[in-house]
Amino acid sequence: MSEYILEMNDISKSFTGVKALSNVNFKVKKGEIHCLIGENGAGKSTLMKVLSGVYPYGTYEGDIVFEGDVQQFNKISDSVKTGIAIIYQELALFPDLTVYENIFAGNEVKRGGIIDWNQTIVEAKKMLGKVKLDVNPDTLIKDLGVGKRQLVEIAKALSKDVKLLILDEPTAALNEDDSENLLELLCELKKQGITCIMISHKLKEVISIADKATVLRDGQTVCTLDAAKGEISENIIIKNMVGREIDDIYPKRSTKTFGEKILELRNWSAFDPKVGRQVVKDINLHVKKGEIVGIAGLMGSGRTELALSIFGNAKSYKLEGDLVMNGTSVALKHPSDAIKAGIAYVTEDRKGDGLFLIQDIKNNISAANLNGISSNGILNDNEEIKIADHYKNSLYIKASSLEQVVGNLSGGNQQKVSLGKWLFVGPKLLILDEPTRGIDVGAKFEIYTVMNELIKEGMSIIMISSELGEVLGMSDRVYVMAQGEMKGELRIEEANQENIMQLATQ
Ligand SMILES: Nc1ncnc2c1ncn2[C@@H]1O[C@H](COP(=O)(O)OP(=O)(O)OP(=O)(O)O)[C@@H](O)[C@H]1O
Ligand SMILES: [Mg+2]
Repeated sequence: MSEYILEMNDISKSFTGVKALSNVNFKVKKGEIHCLIGENGAGKSTLMKVLSGVYPYGTYEGDIVFEGDVQQFNKISDSVKTGIAIIYQELALFPDLTVYENIFAGNEVKRGGIIDWNQTIVEAKKMLGKVKLDVNPDTLIKDLGVGKRQLVEIAKALSKDVKLLILDEPTAALNEDDSENLLELLCELKKQGITCIMISHKLKEVISIADKATVLRDGQTVCTLDAAKGEISENIIIKNMVGREIDDIYPKRSTKTFGEKILELRNWSAFDPKVGRQVVKDINLHVKKGEIVGIAGLMGSGRTELALSIFGNAKSYKLEGDLVMNGTSVALKHPSDAIKAGIAYVTEDRKGDGLFLIQDIKNNISAANLNGISSNGILNDNEEIKIADHYKNSLYIKASSLEQVVGNLSGGNQQKVSLGKWLFVGPKLLILDEPTRGIDVGAKFEIYTVMNELIKEGMSIIMISSELGEVLGMSDRVYVMAQGEMKGELRIEEANQENIMQLATQ
């Protein structure tokens, strides 16, 4: 038998107007951790969807050979039966069901044709043990953080005797601790002989765990790098991914001049009736004109809630304290009030409330500022195209046309559309929540460059980020939150990984 557990030979896959993959060759050895990397839209997710039967046999060209046999999967369950499990970029659990129901959904332990729930729970506990997740199997998925949900997904895969585990950007939504946990778990599974393919934009983690790394670019295989030969380094990866060298992924601003305070929060609190508690507690902060203020903190520290409470969500929260803009106390009752006041919020959850997935790029970009493309109350289609084209170019959005439906864009390109939409509102204060989640290194650099340009034009930015490198690389000042409270403020000169983490874990 071949030394490869998986061989994908000459795979090609087209969508209307787009050749997503062309003659891709991808070989994975048994028991290795093989990372799949490449720019946004390179074809990584598509290749894995071909492999797992999301795109059935017949809708692509080329061969999939798994454990020596040519496979012709017609649906996902066919690949699952063969021992292949894929965990998607966007998690696919049922939020209103329990942990154990999710682990065994469609695969419950049966006795005499009847589901044996007690035994199902016992089995679920075993699987949770394997992924080292210490939660009650009765817990509802919606009550778990993203990190734990991810582990439930893996437990689910393990319950099906997986041989090849595929993870599409598993740590994109995780904080540093949860990411580390997950990577350790993958190494643990490797020891048990499970082969793993991981898609990731985080070069550090690729470098730390990959045995091999295959780089895709524009739907083609560029190369496969081998850790044993010392080929998996940041420089080599970046050069192969973007075709050029990037010296410093955080571009420097030539000048730093700050103006008056454009936003100030005084004793700002938000009570969330849905969870029945104070999610933002007595916060004081300010942002000056021309300043990038980073907000660091662990998942669940209240950073997103803080952003939402600023962004005119008076209906969802009971607010207390003062929100002062340009020296005047204001009441922003609705997001439209916040937009009028010059605030834009680019959400971390682009699928949930950032974008209209069934609409095209141009409709999404104009969505928050229809006045900007209307004259005398009538929408001007040409203007809409012009604006959308501008952002497609300036944000390097990779798509076949402005008419491409956003739901079909790659993850990173969706993120850029979301940013374009809010830039078109022409904000004075831009709140970015995890702005580069799921974005490739080249595009990250471009987004940081755009941020610097906006600052030069006099805009101010609040950047919420779980990536410490980004917080340290881009901010002028850093606030650190934990449990809804402001635990500290650091000048950028004094901030470092250690003192941020210390405050974040208080
Ligand atoms: N269902 C679809 N219909 C049309 N085009 C699609 C569809 N799915 C993917 N594409 C296109 O195929 C190309 C590859 O997309 P894919 O999602 O595989 O990229 P990716 O490498 O996973 O990128 P990212 O890192 O941003 O997630 C992109 O140009 C994308 O727009
Ligand atoms: Mg993808």
